[in-house]
Amino acid sequence: MSSVATRAIALLHPGAMGVTVGATLAASGHRVGWLVEGRSAATRRRAEEAGFQPFDDLEALLAGADGVVSVCPPDAALDVAGRVAGSRFAGTYVDANAVSPDTARRLESLFGARLADGGIIGPPAHRSGTTRLYLSGPAAAEVAGWFRADPLAVIALDGPVGAASALKMCYAAYTKGSTALLLAVRALAEAEGVSAALLDEWRISQGGLAERSEAVARGSAGKAWRFVGEMHEIADTFESAGLPGGFHRAAADLYQRMTPLKDENADLADVLALLLQRA
Ligand SMILES: NC(=O)c1ccc[n+]([C@@H]2O[C@H](COP(=O)([O-])OP(=O)(O)OC[C@H]3O[C@@H](n4cnc5c(N)ncnc54)[C@H](OP(=O)(O)O)[C@@H]3O)[C@@H](O)[C@H]2O)c1
Repeated sequence: MSSVATRAIALLHPGAMGVTVGATLAASGHRVGWLVEGRSAATRRRAEEAGFQPFDDLEALLAGADGVVSVCPPDAALDVAGRVAGSRFAGTYVDANAVSPDTARRLESLFGARLADGGIIGPPAHRSGTTRLYLSGPAAAEVAGWFRADPLAVIALDGPVGAASALKMCYAAYTKGSTALLLAVRALAEAEGVSAALLDEWRISQGGLAERSEAVARGSAGKAWRFVGEMHEIADTFESAGLPGGFHRAAADLYQRMTPLKDENADLADVLALLLQRA
């Protein structure tokens, strides 16, 4: 184990967001390791550029780790946690993924008081002031203390496991839910042949909405594959609170149709073709 100030952190995995979480930990003086097994060339390149230590084997990575930070697609969060819980790892586990409070509480059953529930709001943290990691649960204050540098800001909420995830679900319910709604409306107008008239009316009465629909198409197309699981986590969160989950089940269906655009620089025309299943 490391000294109190310097910790060994296993990052699972250095994706677009994860690498910036790891970079903040490294800038805070910690050693960051990552697991090569199963990861793509893009993740390898990010991890190498950040100077993280590679490990070929999960047990080897975890053997020397004080903490694990999970930043992966939301629908893989339980699987990643299960692999760590099935090892001899005895340190602190941080789940920073966009999962429902119920999913976070399932993680608590694996890690108990060693769990910090997390939710990240903002884009990958390449500069200060853009991105916050919210934490809750018994290990939240300890984990917040790991982060002593920029650019990622860390905020420990005074709440149980589930609170940070609930905050993330509420935030993304609006941002990604409204994006899906806007794209669905553009697709419907196209299907009904009223796109030009709708854009004219928006310019009269809904300033900026036409431009916003173009921008959200470009911004979401390449990442839509990852939003599918997140939309189901949000729908589960609504339903657990006795609210309808249908908005976000439908958003999941829309994002599912966009998955062929994974990692592409696509625009509204590409998105509409897929939503209308004309691609
Ligand atoms: N990007 C954002 O703007 C943003 C904003 C807020 C919150 N977040 C949260 O951050 C998390 C990750 O997002 P990201 O942007 O880093 O995604 P990403 O760039 O797609 O990276 C995901 C990482 O997880 C790995 N991965 C892919 N499939 C996996 C699987 N089945 N099991 C385990 N690992 C897998 C990827 O490896 P490969 O390279 O091998 O695919 C990659 O290293 C999500 O929970 C998301 O909600 C992201």
